[in-house]
Amino acid sequence: MTGNTAAEGETGNSDRLVQSWRANAKRWSSAVSEGKIASRKDATDAAIVSTVLRHQPKSILDLGCGEGWLCRALQPHVTHRVGIDASPELVEAARSGGGANFIELSYEALLANPTVAGIAFDSIVANFSLLDEKADKLIAALPVVVQPGGRLIIQTVHPLSTGEVYRTGWRTEQFKDFGSEDWVPMPWFFRTLENWISILGPAWKLEKLEEPRMAAGELPVSMIMTATKGGP
Ligand SMILES: C[S@@+](CC[C@H](N)C(=O)[O-])C[C@H]1O[C@@H](n2cnc3c(N)ncnc32)[C@H](O)[C@@H]1O
Repeated sequence: MTGNTAAEGETGNSDRLVQSWRANAKRWSSAVSEGKIASRKDATDAAIVSTVLRHQPKSILDLGCGEGWLCRALQPHVTHRVGIDASPELVEAARSGGGANFIELSYEALLANPTVAGIAFDSIVANFSLLDEKADKLIAALPVVVQPGGRLIIQTVHPLSTGEVYRTGWRTEQFKDFGSEDWVPMPWFFRTLENWISILGPAWKLEKLEEPRMAAGELPVSMIMTATKGGP
């Protein structure tokens, strides 16, 4: 995912973000299932699976699960899998691929009722799916759905990989590297490393930071933050 020009104005960015995933659902599903995204194929898919499995979770909640590939990859190892996503089109694709209980649910609805998708998960995982400015509020509300010692694992764009001004704020992804002209641009909220770490606390305590890179790459393509539930 690359950052491009700053999105105009902030009003409505959250809505346009969700709408873009509805509009891009088919293109996204084929990009993922056909392995068209080099950084995923070469680095980030394996990296998130390995990070999640390192903790041997029995139950996971996949936030913004998209077409469901991660739950399917974890299926042989993780007994209980729930995926949520705001895009009915992507949830339908996820259900047809199987591998988890996939629920059409927005982060806004989850924030209003954090236990609606279940409780006592060992891990929550968000793979390139916390793209909104309001992700800080969701992160703060999530400890209630994991068990004591439970984890939040976030893979996101590496703060150094977008080649733009290093400042937290809205940007627009044009999907220019995705090989088709038809993608609907997506507003997304870029965060510096300082910002990511500040929004994890005090609800979560950063335990490990990883920087996956492609075999021939000089810069990391993503970062994975693993945080444990702070307090009781
Ligand atoms: C880059 S895709 C990643 C999908 C999946 N995690 C993967 O690794 O392929 C971002 C996902 O976040 C979901 N998403 C974005 N904003 C959301 C919101 N407010 N509530 C629920 N899902 C949201 C989108 O629908 C989309 O499926």
